Amino acid sequence: MPDNAQIKVWNELVGATWATHADHFDATLEPFGEAVLASLGVRPHERVVDIGCGAGATTLRLAAVAAPATVLGVDVSQPMLATAGRRAAAAGIANVEFTEADVGAHPLGSDVFDVAFSRFGVMFFADPVRAFANIRESLAPGGRLGFVCFQMPWDNPFILVPTMAAAPHLEMGPPPPLTEPGPFSLADPQHTESILSAAGFGSIRIEPGPASAVLGAADDLAALGRRVLEQNPAAAAALAAADPDARAAAIDASTAALAPHAADGVVRMGAATWIVTATA
Ligand SMILES: C[S@@+](CC[C@H](N)C(=O)[O-])C[C@H]1O[C@@H](n2cnc3c(N)ncnc32)[C@H](O)[C@@H]1O
Repeated sequence: MPDNAQIKVWNELVGATWATHADHFDATLEPFGEAVLASLGVRPHERVVDIGCGAGATTLRLAAVAAPATVLGVDVSQPMLATAGRRAAAAGIANVEFTEADVGAHPLGSDVFDVAFSRFGVMFFADPVRAFANIRESLAPGGRLGFVCFQMPWDNPFILVPTMAAAPHLEMGPPPPLTEPGPFSLADPQHTESILSAAGFGSIRIEPGPASAVLGAADDLAALGRRVLEQNPAAAAALAAADPDARAAAIDASTAALAPHAADGVVRMGAATWIVTATA
């Protein structure tokens, strides 16, 4: 595999957390994936690829919609792909395949899909134009791309609030430029449009997506305070490097910051996302 720092991030730093707590993250992220599905209007028999499929919940969902066609889930994370494969077997869903590949480095084929879908899996490419060109090349002429990505960090308190609360206890360093590979690399719609245009996409539409996120159950705040840090690459790296006292203080601070947002049995906070669609 080429030198892509995100491969290490999603295998060693946060991959195990995302694989182990996949049911929790899927409960939080489901409405965002459903919004993409609604925009794409996937039909039976369509050939679909799920980019950065992670632990596979969306791949299984797409398989139900596109059946009897087979849906391909592509990801770089071995622990998350292992969870995806186990879930497919447990559910007895046969029309899915999962493959380990860096979409930015490996062509996916030519005219092999009708639809490319992603739920928060397209913001981590080392060379976004090349990656989206690979995706475009894999689509039939007129094939559809649809994905959800985050707007700016300060418009996403569900990520920012616990992270900022924990930061004084951790060595987090300055945040990288927003266009670097990471959760916010496609936050600027003009930047996203220029990447997709350069990759050969047309009919680009960028619309606001769901504006809040349910992080989890309010009766499990301490676990939630920890999980939201361990899932986030920047916070997870700082937590891993911290001594035990600093780590405990960071998790306590994250938990305390979530507490005021508990209501009706859940923790719900503001989010800001883009639903992006385009045509090959
Ligand atoms: C935020 S997670 C989202 C996972 C999943 N789509 C979901 O909604 O649960 C981002 C995913 O993108 C994957 N990813 C990052 N860079 C990638 C690349 N170059 N090629 C394929 N997958 C990649 C990660 O391994 C991870 O599974």
